Amino acid sequence: MTATTHQQEEIRAELESLREALRVSEERHRAILETAVNAIITIDEQGIIQSVNTSTEKLFGFTKVEMLGKNISMLMPTPYREQHDNYLENYRKTGERKVIGIGREVVAQRKDGSVFPVDLSIGEVLLPQGRIFTGIIRDISDRKELEQKILEISEEEQQRIGQDIHDDLCQQLAAIGCLAKVAHQRLKQTDSEEADGLSDIVRLITHANTRAREMSRGLVPVVLDSDGLMAALGELAVGTEKIFRITCRFWCDQPVHVRDNKTAVQLYRIAQEAVGNAIKHSNADRIEILLTASEGNIHLCIRDNGNGITDHVPGKGTGMGLLTMTHRAKMLGGQLTVSPVSIGGTQVLCVIPMPANISKVTNW
Ligand SMILES: Nc1ncnc2c1ncn2[C@@H]1O[C@H](COP(=O)(O)OP(=O)(O)OP(=O)(O)O)[C@@H](O)[C@H]1O
Ligand SMILES: [Mg+2]
Repeated sequence: MTATTHQQEEIRAELESLREALRVSEERHRAILETAVNAIITIDEQGIIQSVNTSTEKLFGFTKVEMLGKNISMLMPTPYREQHDNYLENYRKTGERKVIGIGREVVAQRKDGSVFPVDLSIGEVLLPQGRIFTGIIRDISDRKELEQKILEISEEEQQRIGQDIHDDLCQQLAAIGCLAKVAHQRLKQTDSEEADGLSDIVRLITHANTRAREMSRGLVPVVLDSDGLMAALGELAVGTEKIFRITCRFWCDQPVHVRDNKTAVQLYRIAQEAVGNAIKHSNADRIEILLTASEGNIHLCIRDNGNGITDHVPGKGTGMGLLTMTHRAKMLGGQLTVSPVSIGGTQVLCVIPMPANISKVTNW
């Protein structure tokens, strides 16, 4: 064997082992993709599906053959399906990212037409042949259902406690108040010195009863008709002024009718927590609650003139308020933002679609 032939043999062997290594690596990657619990999809710049794993088939009910080469919008419900091409084009032109590299909750659609919430994270890779996007999709229907249940249970529990306070404690306080009043009148008739002391007790019992009633009112907000939210927020402002001796105003330039009672109660709870936070944490002497409707959305804004919020990452720390307010807004298909006010203080803004147009989660 000549030297050259020997070298050629070596190169051939090396190439062969490289090919083998590449094949093993490819197989390993394919196995990882295929066994992944989440759906993993790659698309090209035009939104055409290049690859899907087995979990994608299970999640959406389409076979690989039905998905490969089709537009990714086939996995989205209307109106996102129609908007997605424009979104990709806009991204190509401007580089503006709405979901790429960020990840968010969106809605997806199965082959049978059913719509479900998913957690979507998208990565972008630049290859010599062009750009591809990889999407990892996780079904979060169970989590969403659980979140909804937890909110409903906490709502029911609050209402139960509120009713118990109203029906039991308030009645008992009223009865004790009546007895004390009668005893006071009797003592007065006998010119007893104890009469003044009993008059103080009557006053304190009446005050305690009023407070208990206010508490039960807060726990069972009366938002039974479409104007109920405005009335309940008005009462929240009046009650806050009275109890905490600060200025608290409710503004609603144009009437905002919220026909869905559950939505109205959730909005009330958001306002209640934001007002409570302003009182507890901000040292404010003025709180404003604003309710407006525009472009198919309801805006609920709670603003204080306190010392401002420094750290407002929901769920950080032991507090639950910011976290539950954010959850409530999301469950209504909207968003909650907490931001500092330029002249000092904090603003909590909740924007949700009008109940008739509510879609639970946002666009892809
Ligand atoms: N209006 C506000 N002004 C100043 N700081 C605020 C305001 N609202 C919230 N914060 C800050 O954000 C933190 C988190 O608020 P959050 O409502 O989540 O919890 P919390 O009020 O401390 O407890 P919880 O609501 O569970 O009773 C507060 O501890 C406070 O430091
Ligand atoms: Mg709080």
